[in-house]
Amino acid sequence: MGLLLLITLLSILSFASAEISDKIGINYGQLGNNLPSAYQSIELLQSMQAGRVKLYDANPEILKLLADTKLRVSIMIPNHEISNIALNQTAADEWVRNNVLPYFPSTAIRFLLVGNEVLSSQSDQDIVMWHDLVPAMRNVRKSLKDKNITDIKVSTALAMDVLQSTFPPSTGEFRSDIRDTVIQPMLRFLDRTKSFLFIDVYPYFPWSSNPSNISLDFALFKSNSSIIDHGNGLNYTNLLDQMLDSLIFAMGKLGYPDIRLVISETGWPNSGDIEEPGANILNAATYNRNLIQKMTTKPAIGTPARPGVVIPTFIFSLYNENQKTGQGTERHWGLLNENGTGIYEIDLTGKRSASEYAPLPAAQNNVPYKGEVWCVAARGADLQELSAALTSACNEGNGTCDALAPGNECYLPVSVTWHASYAFSSYWANYRTQGATCYFNGLAEETTRNPSKGACNFPSVRF
Ligand SMILES: *[C@@H]1O[C@H](CO)[C@@H](O)[C@H](O)[C@H]1NC(C)=O
Ligand SMILES: *[C@@H]1O[C@H](CO)[C@@H](O)[C@H](O)[C@H]1NC(C)=O
Ligand SMILES: *[C@@H]1O[C@H](CO)[C@@H](O)[C@H](O)[C@H]1NC(C)=O
Ligand SMILES: *[C@@H]1O[C@H](CO)[C@@H](O)[C@H](O)[C@H]1NC(C)=O
Ligand SMILES: *[C@@H]1O[C@H](CO)[C@@H](O)[C@H](O)[C@H]1NC(C)=O
Ligand SMILES: *[C@@H]1O[C@H](CO)[C@@H](O)[C@H](O)[C@H]1NC(C)=O
Ligand SMILES: *[C@@H]1O[C@H](CO)[C@@H](O)[C@H](O)[C@H]1NC(C)=O
Repeated sequence: MGLLLLITLLSILSFASAEISDKIGINYGQLGNNLPSAYQSIELLQSMQAGRVKLYDANPEILKLLADTKLRVSIMIPNHEISNIALNQTAADEWVRNNVLPYFPSTAIRFLLVGNEVLSSQSDQDIVMWHDLVPAMRNVRKSLKDKNITDIKVSTALAMDVLQSTFPPSTGEFRSDIRDTVIQPMLRFLDRTKSFLFIDVYPYFPWSSNPSNISLDFALFKSNSSIIDHGNGLNYTNLLDQMLDSLIFAMGKLGYPDIRLVISETGWPNSGDIEEPGANILNAATYNRNLIQKMTTKPAIGTPARPGVVIPTFIFSLYNENQKTGQGTERHWGLLNENGTGIYEIDLTGKRSASEYAPLPAAQNNVPYKGEVWCVAARGADLQELSAALTSACNEGNGTCDALAPGNECYLPVSVTWHASYAFSSYWANYRTQGATCYFNGLAEETTRNPSKGACNFPSVRF
């Protein structure tokens, strides 16, 4: 009798904790043309002992393969489908019928995210979408409820730029352009449906944009000092806690201090461009290993504002993804190389202590690079593709390729590699302040060695 009671109690307890498991999740991004198959990827996730996987869509092949695994699954409605779903309950029902019902419950879908970082985009078209976001969340939730599905929580993934103030955390406040019109109704929805607020939170970004004011150890959970928030006396030993609590205080100011958080993305880049400090394997391993320890410790640690509360966490990302545009770090958030091997050892269960990992190469770029950088054709780049990229860089105008005209100072030697290297450097120097990067789909790479020859002077970017 006593034993039976104990077993019942234990199963109730394990059921209760099931909903807010502290097992680490992984974002399965697929923006690479060289990645392992979905089948292999799921095998890898299982062998890594991931507890959850988050998709950026509702890929049928992946959802089928995830059936009868222990992985709990988060799926996403792409941003461009939001407005239609907001305006049309039939479209919401159809989305659920096509993307949830065929797989659920044998595929353990637990979260359905309506859009990704919708509120971070500021184009006129996207601003229309802001106002469709919460209505779309309501419609999808209704579609699920009509099918008697109550254990899939509906939410959306936000980025930290929903806040206009984050430091110190007690000053946390939502942006005024979304606060009353979007965030307030969203919090009401999340509260009423007992869902979670999903936040993409990257200590790497505030640290790397201000490395002289924020200590790297504070960002990597290695600090032996702490920062007191004089607004409320709370004591912070790491940047992630500060960022999460700024969100918690911002929610509190709108009357919702208790909505639970999920970290929908976090991580640290294992490599990046020359001018991006701190992007290296040692820091990435340190951040992710310490994060996992923090998030899997029992009893839960929580944050200074919410001690003891579990925060389900998804690391970004499974793979380095070579088809992402932008700075070099964008393509280097992976735990795994494109061939599925680990970039560094990592134990997602958090049981392995720091000293049980093999040593890693020392970090070389923790201090921001100061000097000139050029952008040249990557070694081994395909000549035909280089030639096309050369043409498109030169077509941007503003004198980008004047020096390459016949008879001008950089015309000779007449080689695609030479001309492309000049064009990339010139284009990058001209348009970097407008967001241009030195990548050109992998055809270009940065160098600190001045490629200029004779009278031909390559434009550079000075950091
Ligand atoms: C609503 O969506 C359904 C399914 O996509 C579509 O057939 C219907 O025409 C839409 N209704 C309106 C008013 O747009
Ligand atoms: C949902 O549950 C209710 C009450 O249990 C039942 O009447 C209804 O038929 C169910 N609907 C579906 C789609 O299963
Ligand atoms: C660093 O902190 C100091 C003092 O708090 C402040 O004056 C300065 O503007 C900060 N620098 C940057 C780059 O934010
Ligand atoms: C505290 O951290 C600083 C800088 O990270 C380091 O130099 C110092 O040795 C540490 N002290 C202890 C007691 O760990
Ligand atoms: C803040 O926390 C640190 C680490 O737990 C501790 O050493 C320090 O004494 C605390 N400071 C205050 C003012 O509570
Ligand atoms: C996997 O890829 C990495 C990085 O490109 C490379 O260093 C490693 O040798 C590859 N391993 C295998 C087994 O192919
Ligand atoms: C054109 O180039 C000049 C000189 O490099 C630069 O100052 C200017 O901002 C560029 N214009 C545009 C539109 O990029």
